Amino acid sequence: MGAAQRAGIKWPTVCGGAGECAVCYIEVLGGDDGTQPLTNAEKTVLGRSIHRPKQGGTLRLACQFRVNHNLKVHRIGIRPAQNAAAGGRAAG
Ligand code: FES
Repeated sequence: MGAAQRAGIKWPTVCGGAGECAVCYIEVLGGDDGTQPLTNAEKTVLGRSIHRPKQGGTLRLACQFRVNHNLKVHRIGIRPAQNAAAGGRAAG
């Protein structure tokens, strides 16, 4: 989530990255080798979440998930931060 935010992408969150809301979830589709196992926060929050993998991947909390290599993830509803500042609509 931090990497996406640094890249200018507004990432959804309710808890501000505390690992409590599951709003930030992502589905990891590939390149997951070498990443950390699910944290306790992820196990708890994702276990009670309504979100389920839709493309055969593994759900993670973007705010808790740390990666140091390229990987492919799926997430709907993500938009550039500048569009969010314009009320979620493209300017023009
Ligand atoms: S931002 Fe709330 S769980 Fe990740």
